Amino acid sequence: SRVVKLAVIPGDGIGPEVIAEAEKVLDAAVSGSDVRFESTRFSLGAGRFLETGETLTDADLEAIRSHDAILLGAVGGVPGDPRLKDANIERGLLLKLRFELDHYVNLRPSKLYPGVPGPLAAPGDIDFVVVREGTEGPYVGNGGSIRTGTPHEVANETSVNTAFGVERVVRYAFDLAERRSKKLTLVHKTNVLVHAGGIWKRLVDEVAREHPDVAVDYVHVDAATIYLVTNPDRFDVIVTDNLFGDILTDLAGAVTGGIGLAASGNINPDGAFPSMFEPVHGSAPDIAGQQKADPTAAILSVALLLDHLGLHDESRRVTTAVEDDIASRGSAPRSTAEVGDAIAARLSA
Ligand code: NAD
Ligand code: IPM
Ligand code: MN
Repeated sequence: SRVVKLAVIPGDGIGPEVIAEAEKVLDAAVSGSDVRFESTRFSLGAGRFLETGETLTDADLEAIRSHDAILLGAVGGVPGDPRLKDANIERGLLLKLRFELDHYVNLRPSKLYPGVPGPLAAPGDIDFVVVREGTEGPYVGNGGSIRTGTPHEVANETSVNTAFGVERVVRYAFDLAERRSKKLTLVHKTNVLVHAGGIWKRLVDEVAREHPDVAVDYVHVDAATIYLVTNPDRFDVIVTDNLFGDILTDLAGAVTGGIGLAASGNINPDGAFPSMFEPVHGSAPDIAGQQKADPTAAILSVALLLDHLGLHDESRRVTTAVEDDIASRGSAPRSTAEVGDAIAARLSA
């Protein structure tokens, strides 16, 4: 039998609530198969920082690195909490994991499941994947400020785009497009960000020559936000930089029925490091501890995790159970655990 070593980081706020349901569903998905998940829990996030002053120690990172995959709920405290000013949970924990484990593909599928009440009157058939670059762009921390806090302050945050980094994520996106509808859209802002946009456009054009059967399109990011609302069904694979991808995928989540459904994978395609699966949403301090969070995004992240591990049937079964659950959702609100129980029950049936 195959043993998968899973690092579980429930995190803060609704993180532990949605991860409890995700683990329930993971157990149900593999029960009776010859795969066994062996989980190690890591207490990381704003809570851990407030208790110990630690964000992500070298020992934590080494321990996490020795696992086959990572499942993360959400990390981060109440935005603006002064006690967390030095913690830098987002950079020091979440981004550190993505950078250190070379998660250069941030995979964020968006699908409007039948029966989901979305905000669009005529949404069409929404089913696309954002391939968001995960290790470069404006996220790298290549910046600084001088004369900070004075009227003469100068603050820079320089986007870093390497040929190596852009080409590898573009190649991944083309391979994905080959397996899907053979349509790829580059989203950037080449009309203004001529250097960063230039390297993306050139490398997409270059790799496109190796994929003559993939239809390639380019859309400026501002226009992309229009199309995501007016005709999102025009997209299939979107490839874009780290920051544009962050913003587009919250919007994509909103048009496909809410952020409570949006799943993601931080992938190291080469398999040198464990990939990390997490809902797109954050720790939602406004609803934490009330069993109000929708665990579906975390559960669909489990489906992405299973797929990544080559457990395609198990992944498919989780997705189907979620689809069936969504299709049968009434208007009565259910608790976080009730949603998880219902989906797990479909897998055990
Ligand atoms: P958020 O995603 O936590 O919340 C935005 C809104 O969506 C809130 O109204 C929240 O109640 C709602 N929401 C989020 N997830 C939901 C779910 N599963 N079911 C129902 N409603 C849900 O974004 P925020 O408020 O900007 O950030 C809160 C904290 O989370 C911050 O510290 C932020 O840095 C952090 N954050 C972490 C991650 C992560 O761990 N990957 C991602 C985004 C934000
Ligand atoms: C996300 C989040 C993170 C990001 C933050 C919390 C660092 O918004 O996963 O989308 O910007 O990538
Ligand atoms: Mn985000």
